[in-house]
Amino acid sequence: MNDNSLTLSAIAALLHTQRLGHCGHILSRTDSTNTQIKQRFCEQPEGFILLAEEQTSGRGRQGRTFVSPAGGLYLSLLLHPDLPFEKLSLLTPLAAVAVCQAVEQLCGLCPQIKWVNDVFLGNRKVCGILTESAFGQFAEKPDYSVVGIGVNLNLDRTAHPELAEIAGALADENILLPTRAQLAAAILNAFEPWYDQLLAGNGHELVQAYRSRLNCLHKPITVVSGDVTYPAICTGLTDEGNLIVTDEHGQQSVLCSGEIRIRLE
Ligand code: BTN
Repeated sequence: MNDNSLTLSAIAALLHTQRLGHCGHILSRTDSTNTQIKQRFCEQPEGFILLAEEQTSGRGRQGRTFVSPAGGLYLSLLLHPDLPFEKLSLLTPLAAVAVCQAVEQLCGLCPQIKWVNDVFLGNRKVCGILTESAFGQFAEKPDYSVVGIGVNLNLDRTAHPELAEIAGALADENILLPTRAQLAAAILNAFEPWYDQLLAGNGHELVQAYRSRLNCLHKPITVVSGDVTYPAICTGLTDEGNLIVTDEHGQQSVLCSGEIRIRLE
């Protein structure tokens, strides 16, 4: 076994969690770990993880593709959150903070978050997060949620020229590159305490931790909502994780993540 082989036991040896990451499965090649959890593993207990060496149809928000060649970390975490709908939207910010903390701790870098679900180093995206939840009929709480996290450790830009200008990778930095097992365990270790706080009804500190890492606060942005785009300044973040923006007429709006995205100017 070389240092970078991805095994559940290598992850488990580094976990400090009570519930997250102690059971799971690793696939060598699959379409999407989020899709596979939904199709095959959604009955598993909270904390089950599914990882893949590579994904052939990695999925991102708003129907986008997440390019997932071998070498990256592709991790889906299954939760059965006892959370009302309005609090569920904090799972993506929670995962973004956990990824930042893991990268800070393992690499000594200062990643930032592009609202709502991307982690950046400088002006390049190194991680994307896709959270999906399934509800039974009339249910107020989800049967399950899947938090899917993809981190670029290495990126061969010659194989993916379309990503050359926008995607980054941890290996681009002058650091000792963590293994995928180290990174997965550090993310889960950071995730669980925030998740426990959220379940206990306290999301305030989490939102503070998210806000302090946002890369758009007080900066000019373009809001993209369907076919409509307009320039604005990002002026704040609500306790629900929604972005507060002020347009050029001084009109303030609160943006929910659903259909809206922003571009940094
Ligand atoms: C985005 O960039 O909009 C989100 C990307 C999320 C990618 C991760 S990789 C593991 C999991 N499986 C997927 O198909 N997507 C998520």
